[in-house]
This record gives sequence, C-alpha cells and structure tokens, in this order.
Amino acid sequence: MSSKFYLTTPIYYVNAKPHIGHAYTTLAADVIARYQKQKIGEKNVFFLTGTDEHGAHIAEAAQKAKKNNQNFCDEMAGEFKKTWANLNIKYSHFIRTTDDYHKQGAQEFLSMLKEKAVIYKADYHGLYCTGCESFITEKELDEKGRCPAHQKPPQKITEKNWFFKLKNYLPVIQKLVENDKLKIYPKNKKQEVLGLFKQGLDDFSVSRPSVKWGIPLPWDNNQTIYVWVEALLNYWTAIFKNPSYKLQVTSYKKWPPDLHLIGKDIIKFHSIYWPAMLLAYFDGDESKLPNKIFVHGFFTINGQKMSKTLGNVIDPNDLVNKYGVDAARWLILSQFSFGADGDIEGVKFKEKYNADLANGIGNLIARISALCLKQITDWEKFWTAAEKSYKLQVTSYKFHETLMDNLQLYDALKQIMRQVKSTDEYLTLNQPWKLEKDKNQEKIVKILAQASASILSIADMLKPFLPETSQKIKQHINIKEKKIKSAQHLFPKK
Ligand code: MSP
Repeated sequence: MSSKFYLTTPIYYVNAKPHIGHAYTTLAADVIARYQKQKIGEKNVFFLTGTDEHGAHIAEAAQKAKKNNQNFCDEMAGEFKKTWANLNIKYSHFIRTTDDYHKQGAQEFLSMLKEKAVIYKADYHGLYCTGCESFITEKELDEKGRCPAHQKPPQKITEKNWFFKLKNYLPVIQKLVENDKLKIYPKNKKQEVLGLFKQGLDDFSVSRPSVKWGIPLPWDNNQTIYVWVEALLNYWTAIFKNPSYKLQVTSYKKWPPDLHLIGKDIIKFHSIYWPAMLLAYFDGDESKLPNKIFVHGFFTINGQKMSKTLGNVIDPNDLVNKYGVDAARWLILSQFSFGADGDIEGVKFKEKYNADLANGIGNLIARISALCLKQITDWEKFWTAAEKSYKLQVTSYKFHETLMDNLQLYDALKQIMRQVKSTDEYLTLNQPWKLEKDKNQEKIVKILAQASASILSIADMLKPFLPETSQKIKQHINIKEKKIKSAQHLFPKK
C-alpha cells in the first residue's frame, strides 16, 4: 500500500463562475481525498485544485466585464474558492496560474526543455479554437466546419511558435499506456487514448506570439507560454516550486501524482502531452510519470448540453442554499455512474432529495433512535449487543472499500442506499414497536442493536461523501458514550 496519495483536479478556467460540472470533478476528488485520509492518514494525502487564468479567452472575458485582467482573475478565483468552501471541499492547496511561483516554475521547466534540445522554432499554419485554447485540425471539425465543443468556427492562424518534439516520445508513451504502466481508467478511455496514437499526432506548440495575457517565454520575450502547457505544469509547480512546500523535504516525496482526475474533454493533454513533457524533463525516467489518470464522463442537463445561451447552467451554490451542503454533495454525485456520461435531471433534484435523504437516510436514523428511546429498558444489554453487531459489519465495509479503491463512487453510494433500504425493511418485518417492552426486551434489544449497528456502518461509509451527516448519525447513536439522542430529522422533507 502506498504511503502517500497525491491527487489533482483540472485547474478551471476563470472566464465564468464555477458550475455543477466543475463541482462534479472537485467533489469527487474531495471524496477520494477524504477516503484516502481515513486510510493512510491526513498528512499523507495532498489534494490539489486551482484555477487556470491565462490565455486569450480569459483576457476577452475580463474585457467584457470591463475589468483589468488580474483583478478579474482575482475575483473569479475567489468565486471558485467560495463555492468549494460552500460544498465543504477540503483541498490541501489551491493553485492559481497567476501565482508568482507558478510563473517562475513554468519558465524554469521550459528553459530546461530548451536546454535538453527538445524544443525548436517553426511556423504554424492552421486552426485554433480560442474556446478550447487549442490547436485543432480539419478532421476534428463538425460538418459545418466548427469546433464541436464550442460550436464556433476556429481562427485561421499563421504564426511562429516554439514546438515540443512530441513525436520523440510517442512510442514510449503508447507502450506505457498499453501495458498499464501509465494507467488510464476506465478501460474505454484507455482505448480512446490508444486510438489517438493510431491517428497520429504532431509536435505541439509550447508558445504563442500574439497572446499577451500569459507567462513570457524566458528566452524569447515576444512569445508567451502556450496556456495548456503552463496549465499542465501546475501539477509540478505546486509541489516543487510552491514556497509553502518547497522547503519541506517531504514535499519532494509527494511526486509523482497518484491520481489525475479529469473530464473526458481534456484526455489528450493529460494522457499524452503531459507524460511526454515529464519524460523529457526527467530524462526518460518513467517512475516520474503520474500513476493513474481517471477520466469521468460529461453530463447533460435534462438531456441538453449545459450552456449559458440555453440558460440551464446549474450553480452548485444554489443547490447548497436550497438543500444544504451534504444534500448538495449527494445530489451531485449520486446521479450516474462515475466514469460514464450521464444526465442530471435538474427537475428531479427534489424527488431524489426526498427519496434518498428525507425518506431514506434521514428517516431511518430518526426511526431507529426514536424506537430505541421508546422500547429499550435494558441499556447495558443493548450497547453490548450493538457493539458486537457493529463489529460484524466488516463485510459490508470491505465491499465498500473495494468500490472506493476502484473509484466506483456511484456504486458505493448505491450500496449505501441498498443497506438503508434493507435496514428499513428489517425493522418493518420485525415490528419492534409492536412488542411489549417488558415481556420482549431481549428480542427488542436484538432487533434494535442490529439496526443501530447497520446505521453506524452506513455512517462510516458515508463519511467521505457526507461528512456532517456521518458525524450527526454517530452523535445520535453514540456508541462510544453509550447515549442515544432523539433525532431531529436530518433531512426535512421538501
Ligand atoms: N483549464 C483547463 C484544464 C487545465 S488542467 C491542467 C480546462 N478548464 S475547464 O474550466 O474547461 O474545466 C474542464 C473540466 O471541468 C472538465 O475536464 C471536467 O472536469 C469539468 N467539467 C466541465 N463541464 C462538465 C460537464 N458538463 N460534466 C462533467 N464535468 C464537466 O479545461
């Protein structure tokens, strides 16, 4: 078992406020980080997130907002931080690509690549989509000649760029992906990456001449570092150049990343460009490459792509205001399988909240604590039996652990829901409220101890997902202090 876990989310563009898509990835990372902390200890887990702030489309957004670039970025980075705080997301560090240490680090990394002679200057004639901040080829366009992601025609550009010799590294990376030394999950995404090698890939630009809002290339001040290149470097600068960690010897032990969590839109950059840059920098040392890249799917909202024009963008802060923080976390992560594409049925949030949380988990805990307070007279026997039953819950926890280790977050939530249902059914079947408490105390103790143990194990499994709820359950059925608190409903019906 690895004794450290370094995980990352993509760093998000600050051209607009965070939406539920960004929240989805960051929340998943938070759940994984919390789970790993439970497993290997808080100080051994490093969870990085942040914002991607340079490039033409950010400068455009600042101009539209009539703000100076840096002020605009400060404000928007603040929006991301606020949203993550509202969702109770506990990252270890929030990197901004306008942080000085990142700028210096990116320059240093690029200078090193130049020294190693893997960079050369050449002309680029071709297409560029500002929305993706990405060079794009004819064959990637849709039938109307537009970028499929942004539904806009790309710009035709002719410029001098510095290029990275990607082609030198393609055969090695392809092998690493093929034999799972560079793990790409789920399997269909690994196949997609292998398909990219087959299509053939060209060297890519590491700088652009016309983009002013960026980090200057150290040896050619007419160029700034291509925004994708410096964005990828955030994973490296946050560890090696971050003044908060630089001086700690242990920070070097955090490398390489154990998990990059990304959406399927940015798979090529993470699975091919990024490993190639690292191989070049670390002189071909494969042990310096990320261990695993997990690619999750994209969701639509009620069957439609989320977009400002359609007006269907969901602000995660609204979910928190309406349902509460843990409920918002539940509603975002429990919609569809992690790794697949899916649909979020915005209209069904209320239904799902009532079914899973109000009538499910909330009702069960209220039911159990009320029954215990009403029907138990022999508390000593009850706590002894509850402790014993609780210990026997290891099997469901083991199964849960396997799901979590495989990042099957949705399946883990489904397993929790199944246990909620079966515990509820167990109570309904045994009807402890119908038993006369003096005559049937032994039987009542047995039933309620079993049900209490089950909800305590549910609380354990819920801990990384719904930290507050998990703690509240443990306060209601307080096995350590041998106390039961009458439950106010944790999730009032909406
Ligand atoms: N700045 C780059 C990433 C650089 S990482 C070195 C970028 N930013 S982004 O703001 O566009 O964020 C993209 C990421 O947001 C996706 O990879 C995904 O994690 C998340 N999502 C954005 N929309 C989403 C959905 N509709 N569904 C699921 N996730 C979504 O690309």
